[in-house]
Amino acid sequence: MDIFLTGGAGYIGSHTCVELLNAGYNVTVYDNLSNSSQESLKRVEKITSKKIRFIRGDIKDEQKLISSLSGMDAVIHFAGLKAVGESVLKPLEYYDNNTAGTITLLKAMQKKEVKKIVFSSSATVYGEPLFLPLTEEHPLRVTNPYGQTKLMIEEILRDLYKSDDSWAISILRYFNPVGAHKSGIIGEDPQGVPNNLMPFISQVAVGKRDELNVFGDDYDTPDGTGVRDYIHVVDLAKAHVKALQILDKPKCEAINIGTGNGYSVLEMVKAFERASGKKIAYKIMPRRDGDIATCYAKAQKAKEMLGWTAQKGIEEMCEDTWRWQINNPDGYKSTNA
Ligand code: NAD
Ligand code: WQD
Repeated sequence: MDIFLTGGAGYIGSHTCVELLNAGYNVTVYDNLSNSSQESLKRVEKITSKKIRFIRGDIKDEQKLISSLSGMDAVIHFAGLKAVGESVLKPLEYYDNNTAGTITLLKAMQKKEVKKIVFSSSATVYGEPLFLPLTEEHPLRVTNPYGQTKLMIEEILRDLYKSDDSWAISILRYFNPVGAHKSGIIGEDPQGVPNNLMPFISQVAVGKRDELNVFGDDYDTPDGTGVRDYIHVVDLAKAHVKALQILDKPKCEAINIGTGNGYSVLEMVKAFERASGKKIAYKIMPRRDGDIATCYAKAQKAKEMLGWTAQKGIEEMCEDTWRWQINNPDGYKSTNA
């Protein structure tokens, strides 16, 4: 089967390429490289000893999509901008790239009769939890333009399925992806100051940053710091392979991809210290705007529908992040892979 990965050169996409190639799929990556480099794909080829077809293209370019989609059986749609804070400052860029870009992709798919898609959604669509763990039935209420683009795309996909029930659509709501491939040669490569906790911690451990700012220690959580459901990116990548397999029949399903367990910021700091043998200096800062206290998944639907459950715990998440960080202190700009 031929799989078309928009945004496939990025963090989650590159790890998914590995799992798809290992499972025997042919992989085409379509990416404008706005937040990635082709080096990630070269390294995927090294890990798997298999070839990737790469097309440099934008999801807003319908003509290029139409020509590129020839012969494809299904799409995994990762392409998108993902920084919550930036989305508040540049909402039009986010709506244009993520929402308008997805509409263009779906139109091209419709024209080419490629009607199978796995979409990267996010637990951010649940907003401030009304109850925990978060089930897929939890009301959807977003608090920032990034989250709004994810929710809008979900609604567009549901409407598309209502209008034409020959589509097969898996909407995966990721919780907090972290970690890296065991080889230590692919991983998360944030540009500039990392927004997310794990890459920030690992840059402190490797000496690129002095200390971690812990955003709030007065939440209603066991140690006062925010609690999240961290999911190893390789587990997440494997969920995509499973999600493709259920697209043999028409459907439109949203599925949580998390472990079902929550860990606090300070628990993650301690776990990273154990994995790296380094002390992580931190200071307590005020809460970050828009943050919630606690967020974790009910992961039952993924088990039932996909036959998938997360296998890797926070020790492995930290060890694998550390291996990637120490081998590639400057991400893909490092040359020692
Ligand atoms: P990433 O930035 O590493 O990967 C996204 C890729 O999309 C990049 O390679 C980028 O160059 C490409 N891209 C962006 N706009 C494009 C466009 N217009 N045309 C073609 N390519 C384009 O991000 P990631 O962490 O791998 O995330 C992948 C997807 O998962 C995103 O849609 C993101 O919103 C979603 N997601 C990520 C997280 C997370 O914490 N990493 C959590 C939930 C959901
Ligand atoms: C985790 C915890 C922070 C950084 C975001 C997006 C979400 C999804 C995943 C895309 C929180 C604390 C963080 C730091 C800290 N992305 N923290 N110091 O906010 O749960 O989710 O990424 O879809 O949409 O909102 O993840 O890693 O930023 O934060 O104390 O320097 O770490 O306050 O409690 P978050 P995160």
